[in-house]
Amino acid sequence: MKVRKTSISKLNTTDFSNLPFGTVFSDHMLICNYKDGKWGEAKILPYGPIPMPPGAQVLHYGQSVFEGMKAFKNNSNEILLFRKEENFKRLNQSAERLSIPEIDEETFMNGLDELLALDNAWCKKEEGYSLYIRPFIFASGECVKASASYEYTFIIITSPTTKYYAGEMNVVVEEHYTRAPQGGVGYAKAAGNYAASFYPTKQANAKGFQQLIWTDAKEHKYIEESGTMNIWFRIDDTLITPALSDSILGGITRDSIVTLAEDNSIKVEQRKILISEVVDAYKNGTLKEAFGTGTAVTVNPINTITFREKRMVIESQKDSFAIKLKQQLQGIQKGSIVDAYDWTSKVTA
Ligand code: COI
Repeated sequence: MKVRKTSISKLNTTDFSNLPFGTVFSDHMLICNYKDGKWGEAKILPYGPIPMPPGAQVLHYGQSVFEGMKAFKNNSNEILLFRKEENFKRLNQSAERLSIPEIDEETFMNGLDELLALDNAWCKKEEGYSLYIRPFIFASGECVKASASYEYTFIIITSPTTKYYAGEMNVVVEEHYTRAPQGGVGYAKAAGNYAASFYPTKQANAKGFQQLIWTDAKEHKYIEESGTMNIWFRIDDTLITPALSDSILGGITRDSIVTLAEDNSIKVEQRKILISEVVDAYKNGTLKEAFGTGTAVTVNPINTITFREKRMVIESQKDSFAIKLKQQLQGIQKGSIVDAYDWTSKVTA
């Protein structure tokens, strides 16, 4: 792979004690172009602006998909990637739905390895740090006809990070706007899903909520996701999360928590959840926990849920499932707990 290294590293001028999520980028990026029906050679370049004509299709029609993944450094200074095969699979599932050509495994996996080996120092070993990895593919063909592009660009950038959300998580049930309808692109990590969420989210933010709980597009009765996270409820001692569908993103953290919970002998139900069921559980005292899961947040407890002006306060539990499962997941990701699932892989380049 061709590699052009940066002549001025930003490592020494980056304040690692202040890393607002997604605002600081490592020195290099991987880039690969698709033209004439095939992907070309990937190369690594210094992180920086990319040439983009104003007629690039992604700017007009949002034909773009992305992934979010994380790398961690263990105590032996090795970089561990978490479930990279799942991100690769999901990127291509998203690409298929957006009529974007699939990326081949070698480009993705070797690209990751080489990029992370080169920017190794951006992945910090200290507690609480990880390297957030953002692979994405977008339509780079120059044409404003409303049709799938003939040219695409695949890029991987990385960003050192600590926490996604700081502070409380107060969410409100959204009964008007919707994240994704049946038959839409909700299961894909399509850029437009996120763009469409910003306006309702901003309205919720203005009322003091950090995030929304998205409900189904048809009846607004069933719970789908919360913000950019999959959502979970502990009712009595059962964990319940909405079953996957074409309007729900199949989170890799979600899948990992299902496995970890079951291996901790916690009963897990993946099914439709009515808002009214959560409200009833709150009223009769059986709603013990609520939390969100996602790559960026890992596991994020929800402090309050507001439904039609009524605020349900979820007190923290001494035997919190969310905290227990988060600790196990993070331990595996960081290599401090034995990975019995073969979820982690070392960067080898
Ligand atoms: C992730 O958890 O990777 C996400 O997709 C959230 C992202 C939009 C920041």
